[in-house]
Amino acid sequence: MGSSCFAFFGILLLCTCSASPPNFVLLFADDLGFGDLGCYGHPSSLTPNLDRLAAEGLRFTDFYSTCPVCSPSRASLLTGRYQTRSGIYPGVLYPGSIGGLPLNETTIAEVLRPLGYATAVIGKWHLGLGHNGMFLPTKQGFDHFLGIPYSHDMGPCKNLTCFPPDIKCYGLCDISNVVVPLMENEVIKQQPVNFLDLERSYSDFAANFITTSVEKKQPFFLYYPSHHTHYPQYAGIGAAGQSLRGPFGDSLLEFDNTVGHLMATLERTGVINNTLVFFTSDNGPELMRMSRGGNAGPLKCGKGTTYEGGMREPAIAYWPGIIKPGVTHEMASTLDILPTLARLAGAELPQVMLDGVDMTDILVKQGKSKREAMIFYPVDPSEKYGLFAVRLGKYKAHFYTQGAFHSSTTPDKDCPETAVFKAHDPPLIFDLEADPCEHYALPVDTPDIQSVLQQVKTVKEQFESSMVFGESQVAKGTDPNLEPCCNPECSPKPSCCQC
Ligand SMILES: *[C@@H]1O[C@H](CO)[C@@H](O)[C@H](O)[C@H]1NC(C)=O
Ligand SMILES: *[C@@H]1O[C@H](CO)[C@@H](O)[C@H](O)[C@H]1NC(C)=O
Ligand SMILES: *[C@@H]1O[C@H](CO)[C@@H](O)[C@H](O)[C@H]1NC(C)=O
Repeated sequence: MGSSCFAFFGILLLCTCSASPPNFVLLFADDLGFGDLGCYGHPSSLTPNLDRLAAEGLRFTDFYSTCPVCSPSRASLLTGRYQTRSGIYPGVLYPGSIGGLPLNETTIAEVLRPLGYATAVIGKWHLGLGHNGMFLPTKQGFDHFLGIPYSHDMGPCKNLTCFPPDIKCYGLCDISNVVVPLMENEVIKQQPVNFLDLERSYSDFAANFITTSVEKKQPFFLYYPSHHTHYPQYAGIGAAGQSLRGPFGDSLLEFDNTVGHLMATLERTGVINNTLVFFTSDNGPELMRMSRGGNAGPLKCGKGTTYEGGMREPAIAYWPGIIKPGVTHEMASTLDILPTLARLAGAELPQVMLDGVDMTDILVKQGKSKREAMIFYPVDPSEKYGLFAVRLGKYKAHFYTQGAFHSSTTPDKDCPETAVFKAHDPPLIFDLEADPCEHYALPVDTPDIQSVLQQVKTVKEQFESSMVFGESQVAKGTDPNLEPCCNPECSPKPSCCQC
């Protein structure tokens, strides 16, 4: 037992039963909503492995990501800071983006690596490539990367196969970019990527990473941001046609199969009792895809909005012997993962303004959250308007609302982009315990609600006075020459970038 034990002082249990620091497996789904898993009530999803983690672990009902779209949400997850600080806004990064997650931000991998952790990311990066791949995972603390550096719809997909034997991907995807590559570290391995084989490559790579780390007696951090269940859905044999829920259900099942494979690997290598497995998703469902989009369950709207459906996510923590089976209603966030893993590993926190708080007490004691409030920024945050909504305790106050393209097609008129930007003064206020669906705004003229609004205003002012917007990385624009190309000198681009 090393000096890292001092950090565990309050959690004697961890100290006495683990001879080495715990391993971490962080599973991150893509555009998966609050209502999409079997264990969150979806009637036709098939998610036996995630359901088992939920049954034997801790399931969260009030867990939030920090943004209703991909790149900003991922930036916050890895840094424990709102995306406004790191500059990952507005919207998302593109294949030719000049910017990326700034290298002076400290990722979870960079927090753990100095303690001897092996680190790997498999799947969707989406925090930039930049000139000479300067923003790739290998520059952000990860020893290994196997994956697509952005969303797998960010290249033409009309001619690509998404399901066996040769069912083409649904839709066109982004026709103006290079076809999506599969990269290993900084090298393009395949372009276009083969979707039918992709999950097997990831699953094998991840299992191999775990096995090798255990053999070397090295603690490990495996980050698996899956492409599932983002559009266009795909799945290889083993999942294709195997769910009741069509393409979306099959892609979810393929992800779930990988979860099962990784759990079996943790058991086989004997580290299951010394590994925290944490699952959540980056943002709410992309309702515009209709039955091929996800489901927010009872929550309002989805991807792109600051309603609950855009940012409240399924989340599960599993650690046999340490985390007791149960359900928690405590408020927590992807922001809290970095401080929590740092605490459990005995690592030092980065010397920066963090927005995350340690949630170890929730995990190991089913204790109270240290998180007082959750801040909701829109996809396009600005210093002019600041935050859109605040959750304080059970209350959520919306200062601004707007619908989103990604949340079109549902009957709720507040969700699509036709629901234009609207300021609310006084804010719209909901009781998320009595009304998690945000259907019934509370009357603001009662003394109780007046007092809540006063507290919300104080939290908002304090938070905003602490917020320094980082330079927007997305606003740096794109350069087509930065798009990854397996045949860099070829022409005409982007279509010649196939190998
Ligand atoms: C990173 O560098 C930029 C530019 O110098 C600076 O504005 C920002 O505050 C730095 N961020 C951190 C986390 O140190
Ligand atoms: C798809 O394949 C057809 C036939 O080979 C070709 O004409 C077309 O340009 C391809 N489309 C894309 C988007 O690659
Ligand atoms: C993990 O702990 C359980 C008891 O909590 C025990 O039954 C099991 O054998 C342990 N597994 C390994 C691989 O050590």
